Parts: sequence; structure tokens; C-alpha cells
Amino acid sequence: MAKIEHTERGAELVTDDGLRLHLDFVNDRLKYQRPHRGKSELIAKAIGLSKGFHQVWDLTAGLAEDAWFLVRLGAEVTAFERQPLIAELVEDARQRAARAPETAELAARFSLRAGDAIEILRALQKGSGPEVIYLDPMFSFEKKKTALPRKEMQIFRSVVGADADASDLLREALRVAKDRVVVKRPLKEPPLLEGLQHRFEGTTIRYDLYNPKL
Ligand SMILES: C[S@@+](CC[C@H](N)C(=O)[O-])C[C@H]1O[C@@H](n2cnc3c(N)ncnc32)[C@H](O)[C@@H]1O
Repeated sequence: MAKIEHTERGAELVTDDGLRLHLDFVNDRLKYQRPHRGKSELIAKAIGLSKGFHQVWDLTAGLAEDAWFLVRLGAEVTAFERQPLIAELVEDARQRAARAPETAELAARFSLRAGDAIEILRALQKGSGPEVIYLDPMFSFEKKKTALPRKEMQIFRSVVGADADASDLLREALRVAKDRVVVKRPLKEPPLLEGLQHRFEGTTIRYDLYNPKL
């Protein structure tokens, strides 16, 4: 069983075999401070940042790489995470970013809700959510391409498992979102549900766009 340890660096996820996972939104130049091309990033186009959509719920926070990236691109993001250890790791990183002068303004536009987004959204009225809902469910382990280093992905996958209920999550997102729902998928895999409005294709992944009003 993995557990959280609190060290001078903040919360760290530690596995039985001693592997450690720690998130640093402030200083990690590979994952959380990598350079970006602003609103011409594919994810920015999929979310519709240049069309004026800024309010985003990310229903699958994971290690919050996408959520933090969207915050850096100007969005206001509420992220949801159901795996309690991962949620604790992200919340700890968010709090440290809120205390650092260079990221305090960004952290103020990022919040985390620990819990299952399917259950949380089920309690909401149709169309009562944010402008945009974003999902990046865990894909089958063998096929999913990722930028995370091997060791970190190994730890993450051992704790989280597969998201077999991803299409239920998408159905709830479509019921609750106001303007658009965006799903990140491996480029060659079929969409989670039929009824796509558009695909934004990258080299290994794509963003599927759904219109909740259709
Ligand atoms: C592939 S990861 C997301 C990675 C993330 N986009 C990033 O940039 O780090 C999927 C995450 O979504 C979480 N998740 C899946 N279904 C969820 C649900 N219904 N509610 C909340 N979290 C969920 C999983 O626990 C996992 O941590």
C-alpha cells in the first residue's frame, strides 16, 4: 500500500518498494513550468480560451499537469480527483504554490475537490456547471503514451488503476456543462462516446470536442 509522508519538501507519495512521488508546481521545469505558446496550444484551442471560455472543470485531475497548464494559459480551473492519496498530493502542491510569490496568482485560479466527479455531478441540475468541462481518463496501460518519466508513471498507475467508468463520467459532463466538453484521447483510439463535434489532433493525442447543447 502506498502512503503519504510529509517531509521538508511537502507531501510525498511513497510506495512499498520505496519509490517516491512529489509534485512541485513552482520549480518543476519539465512538467509544471514548461514553456508554452499561449492560446495557440492545442489544448487552449480545444477548451476555447480565445473564444472567451475561461471557467473549466477538470474532472480527472491526476497529477494536475493539464489543470496547472490551463491555469498558466489563463483559465480558472476546478479539478476533481477521487483517489485520496493523489488528491492529497495535488492539494499540498497547490498550497505550496499559493505561498510562493511567483505562483500565488496562478494558485488563486486553481482549486481541487477530492471525490468522485460522477457522484458530485449527479447531484447537479442540467446545464448548471461551468462553461467547459475537461476529462483525461486513464487509458489502458500498455497503450497510453505519456510524457511522465517511467518511475513516476509506474507509481501513479499502481495507485490509480484504470478508469473503466470513463464513458459514465462523460455522460454526466455532457449533462452539466454549459458550452463544451473536451476529452483527451490517444490519437488512434475510438472516441469515448459518439456525437463528436470536432477533433483537435496532435502527434500522439487528440482532444475530442462535444457540444452539450446538442
Ligand atoms: C490519466 S489521469 C489524469 C492526468 C491529468 N490530466 C494530468 O495532467 O496529470 C486520470 C485521473 O482521473 C482520476 N479520475 C478518474 N475518474 C474520476 C472520477 N470519476 N472522479 C474523480 N477523479 C477521477 C483518476 O483517479 C486519475 O487520477
